[in-house]
Amino acid sequence: MARRHKILVVDDEIANVRLLNRVLGDEHETILCMSGEEAVKALLEHDVSLIITDQRMPMMTGVQLLEKSIEIRPDAIKILITGYTDVQALIDAINAGHVYKYIPKPWDADELRLTVKRALETYELKENNIRLIGELKVAFGQLEELSTGAIRALADALDAKCDYTSGHSLRVSRFAVLIGRALGLPLETLKDVELAGVLHDIGKIGVPESILWKPAKLTPEEHKIMSEHPVKSAQIIGELSGLVRARAFVLHHHEFLDGSGYPDGLKGDEIPLGARIILVADAYDAMTTDRPYRKAIGHHKAIAELREKSGTQFDPKMVNALISVIGEDGELLVNGEVPESFLGLSIPSINPSQTGTQYLAEAERRERLESAGKQ
Ligand SMILES: [Fe+2]
Repeated sequence: MARRHKILVVDDEIANVRLLNRVLGDEHETILCMSGEEAVKALLEHDVSLIITDQRMPMMTGVQLLEKSIEIRPDAIKILITGYTDVQALIDAINAGHVYKYIPKPWDADELRLTVKRALETYELKENNIRLIGELKVAFGQLEELSTGAIRALADALDAKCDYTSGHSLRVSRFAVLIGRALGLPLETLKDVELAGVLHDIGKIGVPESILWKPAKLTPEEHKIMSEHPVKSAQIIGELSGLVRARAFVLHHHEFLDGSGYPDGLKGDEIPLGARIILVADAYDAMTTDRPYRKAIGHHKAIAELREKSGTQFDPKMVNALISVIGEDGELLVNGEVPESFLGLSIPSINPSQTGTQYLAEAERRERLESAGKQ
C-alpha cells in the first residue's frame, strides 16, 4: 500500500479547498487552511511532506507562505496554484527555488493527482538520501574508530616488545605534531604526521630482541638488520589509501639532509617533509630518554646536539621549530602541555626518564648471576 503523506492545502476560497480535499483526501491526510497565517501554524504542528497553496490570498500570498515554510519544513515539496495573471510572482518563486511545480488555473483533477504523486516520490527520494547520508556518516565514524584502535594496538605491540620504547612512539608523534603546528602545516598534513609518528618504528617488531636490547654498540651486521626497520614499518602500514602519505613519512624517517641516511639516501627536499619532522622528533625523544646502550643526556645537551647536526643530518627548519615550541630550557616539558591528538590517542602516564630502567635492571641482574656463577 502506498504511503499516506500529510499534505497541507491552502486557499482562501472554501470551494477550492474542498475541491482539492476531494481529489487528494482519500489517498493522503490533508490539512486544510484558508490563509497563510493559519498555514504557518499548521506547519509548526504537522510534519507535512507537501504544501499546495493558492498564490492570490489576502495578507500573505502563496509565494510568501512558501518562503516562510522553508524555515519550518525545509524538506517539504512546494506546489503553487496560480492564474495566468500572476506570471511575475511565479517566475520569482521558481527562480528562488521555492516551488517544485506550479499548476495553472483551472486545473484538471487527474493531472493534479499525477503532479502530487511525482512530488511525493521526489520527497521520498530526498528523505531516503538524507537517511543514507546519515548511515554513511555513522559507518565512516565507526571505520575511523576501528583504525584508531588498530593503530593503538600496533603501537602497544611494539611497546610490549621493547620496554625501552614504552611511550616513545606516542611522544615522537606529539613532538612531530608540535613541530608541524609551529610550521603552520594544514590539518590534513598534521594528521598524517601524527599517524606516522605513532607508526614510524613499528617495523622494529621484526628485529630480534638480542639486537633491540643490546646494551652496546651494534656490529655492522646487526646495524644492517636494525636499519631495515623503516622499510618493514612501511610494509606493515601497507598500501591502505588513507595511509599513503603517512607511509612515505615512515619509510624515510631515517634519511639525513645530506643524503647519508637510509633506506634510500634521499637528500634535502627529496625527503618528504613529514619524514624530516619525525627524524628530529625521534632524535630528541631518543636523547632525552634512557636507552639500553646509554643514559638520557638531558634537554640542553639534546638541543645542542640537534643544533650541531642541523644542516647535515637534520633540517634546520624542523630543529628551530622544535626548540621554539619546547623552549630553550624545556619549558613545555615542565608545563606538561601536549597538543590534542587528532587520532584520539592518549599518552601513557610514563616518565620518559624512567623508560629502559626495567631492561637495565634485568641486564645488571644477569651480570651479577654470571659473575656469581664464575666464582
Ligand atoms: Fe626509527
